Amino acid sequence: MPLEYSMKILQIAGVTYIHSMKRRNFLKSSALLAISPSLANASGHINSVTLEENLAALNKQPEETAAAMNEEWDKIAMQYDISSDFINLENGYCSMLPVPVLESFVQKTKDLNRKLTWFMRREMETERQAVKNNLADIAGVPSSEIALVRNTTEGLNIVIHGIDLKAGDEIILSKQDYGSMVEAFEQKAKRTGTVNKYINIPLAPSNKQAIIDAYAKAITPKTKLILVTHIINITGQIMPVREICDMAHAKGIEVIVDGAHSFGLLDFRINDLDCDYFATSLHKWFGAPIGAGLLYMKTSKIAKVWPLLGDTGKDRNSMEKFEHLGTNPPAVYLSVRAALDFNLLMGIKLKEERLRYLKNYWVDKVKDIPKVKILTPATDQSCAIATFAIDGMPPAEIEQLLLNQHRILTVAINNDEVKGVRVTPHVFTSVAHLDKLTEAIRGFVEGKFGPIPAPGTKPPAPAPARNSKGKKK
Ligand SMILES: Cc1ncc(COP(=O)(O)O)c(C=O)c1O
Repeated sequence: MPLEYSMKILQIAGVTYIHSMKRRNFLKSSALLAISPSLANASGHINSVTLEENLAALNKQPEETAAAMNEEWDKIAMQYDISSDFINLENGYCSMLPVPVLESFVQKTKDLNRKLTWFMRREMETERQAVKNNLADIAGVPSSEIALVRNTTEGLNIVIHGIDLKAGDEIILSKQDYGSMVEAFEQKAKRTGTVNKYINIPLAPSNKQAIIDAYAKAITPKTKLILVTHIINITGQIMPVREICDMAHAKGIEVIVDGAHSFGLLDFRINDLDCDYFATSLHKWFGAPIGAGLLYMKTSKIAKVWPLLGDTGKDRNSMEKFEHLGTNPPAVYLSVRAALDFNLLMGIKLKEERLRYLKNYWVDKVKDIPKVKILTPATDQSCAIATFAIDGMPPAEIEQLLLNQHRILTVAINNDEVKGVRVTPHVFTSVAHLDKLTEAIRGFVEGKFGPIPAPGTKPPAPAPARNSKGKKK
C-alpha cells in the first residue's frame, strides 16, 4: 500500500533532513552524516555496509510489517559489536552503542584530549547548545526548556528536591516507581514533612482506565504532585501519562514523569504528554554513551525550582542553572549527536515496533505454558520490556539457571508487588536468541535443569569461540 508522506525539514547536527511524519525516512541532503564507518562485529566480520543500506528493505514496508522481517534485522545487528559470550536479554539497564556512535565517542575523546582547555573555554558552550537544540527538535519542545544532565536519577532529583513543598503537602507515587525516586521522596518527607501516598498500580490491567482511576482516587485537597513512571521498569507497563496529566492538571496538581525507558523507545514527543517535568537517560534506549541525560521543565515552572548544586550566577528562569555540575566528560554529550543521527535514520517508530514484535514473540511462546505467568500487559500497553514468573521457582534461581546453563543474561525482580524475571531484547536480538530463552523456560517447567547453583555462583567461563571447522579461534 503506498504511503503518504508529509515532509518536514529538520536541521540536525548541521545536516538537513527531510522528515516523513508518517514514515521513518529521513532523507539526508548533505553527505555529512557519519553513519558509515567500517564495522567489525563480534564474529570479526567487517561490515562496510551503512545503516541506510541495512534499512533499505525495511523502509519499503510499513513499520508493522518491517518489524517482523527477521532476516533484515540480522543485517541491522551488524551495526552493533555484539558479544558472542552470552545472549544479552538485559538491555533495559543500558543500551549498547551502535558502532558508529561508539566510533564517534572514541573520536571525540581523542579530539578533546588534544584540545582540552581550548575546547572547554572556547567551544564547549556552543557545542552543548547545539546538542540541546538537536534534542529539543526531536523532543518537540523549545531548547530553553531542556537541560543536559547525567541521567534520569539526577534529572528527577533536581525536581524532587528543588520544589518547595511544605509539611503536610501530599505526593502520589507507587511502589512500582523506580527505587531511587521513591527514596528521594522518602528523604524529602523526612526533611520537610511532606507526605508520600502510595497507590497500587494494577498488574497487567486490561485497560488504562484502571490506572488513571488509581491516581484519581488518591487525590485529596493536599495533593501537590504526582510521580508517574512512563514505562515501569519492572513490568514494562506503559503508563497513560497524558491522561494522568490531564486529570491532575484539572485539579491544579503538577506531574513529574520518569521517562528513563520511554525516550528513544516509544514514538512520542515530550510535548505530547503535557507533563510539567520529565527526565530521561539517553544511555538507555536512545543509545548514547553512559552519562547522558535530559531534563525537561515547562517554562512556567523553571523559576520556582532550586538547582540541586548551588547556583546563583545563572538566570533563575534559565534551565542552565541545572547544568552547573562541575567538570564532566564532554565527549559523552558530544556523542549524543551521533546517537541522534542513528535514531533518526532508523526511525523511532520502526524501533518501537521491532521491539514490541520481539517482546510479543517470546511472550506468545511461553504464556500458555502451565505455571508460567506473564506480569506484563499485552501489545499497546507494553513494548520492549516484559517480565515472567514460574510458579514455585524463585526469580533469582531462574536468573541464575538461565545464565549458568544457557548463558542468557536477564535480571530477577524482587519488588514488593512484582516478583519475576525481566527480559529486555534490543534491535540486535535475533529470534533465534529468543527461541533459546523460550526453550529454557519450557525446560524449567518440565524440570529439565541441572543442579541449582548456589546464590551468587559465578557463571562458567564462556566456551572458546570456534570457527566453522570447529577449531578454536
Ligand atoms: C524507571 C527508571 N527510572 C530511573 C532509572 C534510573 O536511571 P539512571 O540510573 O540512568 O539514572 C531507571 C534505571 O534503570 C529506571 O528503570
